[in-house]
Amino acid sequence: MSHIDYAQRVNQHLDRYLSDQGSLTEVMRYSALSGGKRFRPVLTYTVANIFGTDLKLADSSACAVELIHAYSLIHDDLPAMDDDDVRHNQPACHKRFGEAQAILAGDGLQALAFEVLTNDSSLSPQIRIALLQSLTHAAFEMAEGQSIDLSVVDKSIDIDTLKNMHQKKTGALLSCSVNLGALISDQCCEQDRQILDQFSKDIGLAYQIQDDVLDVLTPESKLGKKQNSDVDKNKPTYPALLGLENSKSEYENLYERALSALNSLSVGATQLQQLTQQLQNRSF
Ligand code: IPE
Ligand code: IPE
Ligand code: MG
Ligand code: MG
Ligand code: MG
Repeated sequence: MSHIDYAQRVNQHLDRYLSDQGSLTEVMRYSALSGGKRFRPVLTYTVANIFGTDLKLADSSACAVELIHAYSLIHDDLPAMDDDDVRHNQPACHKRFGEAQAILAGDGLQALAFEVLTNDSSLSPQIRIALLQSLTHAAFEMAEGQSIDLSVVDKSIDIDTLKNMHQKKTGALLSCSVNLGALISDQCCEQDRQILDQFSKDIGLAYQIQDDVLDVLTPESKLGKKQNSDVDKNKPTYPALLGLENSKSEYENLYERALSALNSLSVGATQLQQLTQQLQNRSF
């Protein structure tokens, strides 16, 4: 199955899960179903698939990671955070519905992510707890990373502080997306898990360095969000600290290391390698 098939699959399930949130339904759907590349759920499905796991077992995990991501983007755009007005080529949630509804829609999406995992009766209680542990950890790391991000605006920080912030605010949830796919796969042995853990950390950091680079290089029409948002807010980023070319090499090297680590898995990883190359070559 291709990226598009997996993206369609998660969209169908998200559409179903997001049908009954009472008066918050419209606001939650506006943001969660407005596009987005769906790389996190696609990672979860791809990991499950290379281990021959029934994709039905991956649906709740795929939805859960995307719901956390969607919530994080709504809050990230708020005036108190990045104060960005456009997301996915449409007005940011708070521009369309006001700040209070946007905050609450984010809260609702986060809660729904945990509900979806908790209620998946096709998974054993032990697996569900392991998935929930991984997702709660990632959601917390994301919040902490965002906290660091906002506390360093207008400040000069060193590269290790920036790296730690990127690993938390973005790396943690990407890692979790891989980890959930591994946790539901009974053919994934301990050694595979360790390989995937390092792989996921590398692509997680690479993804945010690349986001910083794309913020500089890609026009709004393609990015779906404002170009130069980071520079305008005087945010410390990889391009600001290392320059564009060094930042590109930094993420390219991380993707290359991630790709070669996959060769040691106990199963064929072509599909996951192709997806990693897709991440590496993304232009928005
Ligand atoms: C944007 O993530 C924010 C980051 C954490 C880097 P994506 O670029 O994956 O967002 P969408 O969902 O595809 O728009
Ligand atoms: C966002 O980082 C990380 C999140 C956890 C949402 P950015 O602030 O760089 O994401 P964009 O560029 O607004 O998508
Ligand atoms: Mg931000
Ligand atoms: Mg932002
Ligand atoms: Mg960004």
